[in-house]
Amino acid sequence: MCGIVGVTGNDNAVKILLNGLEKLEYRGYDSAGIYVNDQKGQDYLVKTKGRISELRSKVSATAGVHGSTGIGHTRWATHGVVSEANAHPHFSNDDRFYLVHNGVIDNFQELKAKYLSDVPFRSQTDTEVVVQLIDKFAVEENLDAKAAFLKTLSLLKGSSYAFLMMDREQPDTLFVAKNKSPLLIGVADGFNVVCSDALAMLKETHDFLELMDGEVVTITPDKVAIQDAQGNPVERKPFHVDMNADEADKGTYPFYMLKEVDEQPNVMRKLAQTYLSEHGVPQIDQKLLDAMQAADRLYIVGAGTSYHAGLVGKRLFEKLAHIPTEVHVSSEFAYEQPMLSKKPFFIFLTQSGETADSREVLVNVNDAGYPSLTITNVQNSTLSREATYTLLLHAGPEIAVASTKAYTAQIALEAILAKALGEATGQIVAQDFNVRQQLGLVATGMQAIVDEKDKLEKIANDYLMQSNRAFYIGRGIDHAVSLEAALKLKEISYVQAEGFASGELKHGTIALIEKDTPVIGFITQAKTAGLTRSNLQETMARGAKTLTIVREGLAIDGDDLILPDVDEMLMPLLSVVPAQLLAYYTSLNKGLDVDKPRNLAKSVTVE
Ligand code: M6R
Repeated sequence: MCGIVGVTGNDNAVKILLNGLEKLEYRGYDSAGIYVNDQKGQDYLVKTKGRISELRSKVSATAGVHGSTGIGHTRWATHGVVSEANAHPHFSNDDRFYLVHNGVIDNFQELKAKYLSDVPFRSQTDTEVVVQLIDKFAVEENLDAKAAFLKTLSLLKGSSYAFLMMDREQPDTLFVAKNKSPLLIGVADGFNVVCSDALAMLKETHDFLELMDGEVVTITPDKVAIQDAQGNPVERKPFHVDMNADEADKGTYPFYMLKEVDEQPNVMRKLAQTYLSEHGVPQIDQKLLDAMQAADRLYIVGAGTSYHAGLVGKRLFEKLAHIPTEVHVSSEFAYEQPMLSKKPFFIFLTQSGETADSREVLVNVNDAGYPSLTITNVQNSTLSREATYTLLLHAGPEIAVASTKAYTAQIALEAILAKALGEATGQIVAQDFNVRQQLGLVATGMQAIVDEKDKLEKIANDYLMQSNRAFYIGRGIDHAVSLEAALKLKEISYVQAEGFASGELKHGTIALIEKDTPVIGFITQAKTAGLTRSNLQETMARGAKTLTIVREGLAIDGDDLILPDVDEMLMPLLSVVPAQLLAYYTSLNKGLDVDKPRNLAKSVTVE
């Protein structure tokens, strides 16, 4: 979703802002803009619809754009159409205040009607209401920028925001406020920066200050002054982001998604090295294991792909650790909480650690005093900071909107955690499960699959390119993977794809099968292999074009894609990979933007 960058105290402000915005492109956006001020009376505002490359061209075509302090933004439309007028930064009618914003102001219509009925507006956004309001208070009540900013913030009801503001009368100062939406301050050598994600500023600094909800910050080139919601000064030490800026580059790959699919074998190895001893003994914080053991039920909460990884995790926790486990979609759980057990333990799965729907659940969980664990790829992300425990996925930055390596990393880490818990409670099945050896086999198996790209591209062309509808089917854990496989296909290739419990087809959905409808079956579990094959036959009898993705030990003549054998519980780690690549090649060969599918954002920071 929207991305924010800012800098104060560097004569290369324009370059820093544009580079930063480029690094935030992955979040999804439809327009962008920057505002810079050189502190000598010159300032520039450049905005455009479309990509950062278009913003760059516009900046180059505008004579003399330069400055040492500035703000920038990528917009993912919420209020108002995609247009240059609705792109940020927004500014007050007297050209004094400039503002970028991530989030949603719930009561902007009321504020507009109550305070700004005589003010002409240039855009349809909630953000412009905020900047006009700041200006109104500054002018009519003779408030300085910070006081006008604070007064405006106090009027925003039930809103999520990350704001970054500049005042032409204090051209070296950035004003920042945060509530629910993510924002970091980067402390660089002689200057300071602001960003929605550390990735955007890794070229400038590796040291960042996190912000808590309700905090307001003023930043000059040599000072960062944080105050809490009550107005008290806050002292905070920066944390160090241990990531190479190059890790976020796609190198020679045409798209991040392909790079991230290819990285999966290494992610498996890295997780094994990080969380297992040489002899395969899980190295998990004892306090976390104690808290989980004390629970009578686990509740896994996530959205999209992370929810799908939770569906596999449920099987792992129940089989290996014998703890009843429920999996919930966070946006549903937040507003219709099911009846909880007496001693619940919550597991939040989230690649970004910033998903607003999941965070809403965590806020309620914390209010109720329940223990929780966040499994995330992003160190110091909001869900990581706010949960009782965190385990990091160590998958490296995932930039493509379609999540791939985070899904497999989440499952692998769930397997390690379930093994640790099962061993701690003396479950024989957990003792017999050699997770280190299995993850080694998974890594090798993944490598074999990603090495078959030509074959997968051909299958994508033969099976999926000509159709605007497709089904992935399977039973049990294969059904869980079919949901993820369908999500991958629909989100990047716009084929209407559904994941189905294959036994359910006959209860209605088979009516949709017609000549040449692609139906892809996952067959990796001995107990249900025959049943899924029968269900595939039933669709074939009605004209479907079927394809099988089968574990080697269950393969028969005529199967299409044979996966290496690993423990059945871990087969999702392999069976999802061909589905990721089928989605990739379908999207690629349709000429679509694989990494940035329409209407989607990488980090969904509004509910
Ligand atoms: O960062 P999160 O894991 O919390 O994100 C959740 C979903 O938004 C995400 O998995 C989404 O479904 C992906 N686009 C799927 O590829």
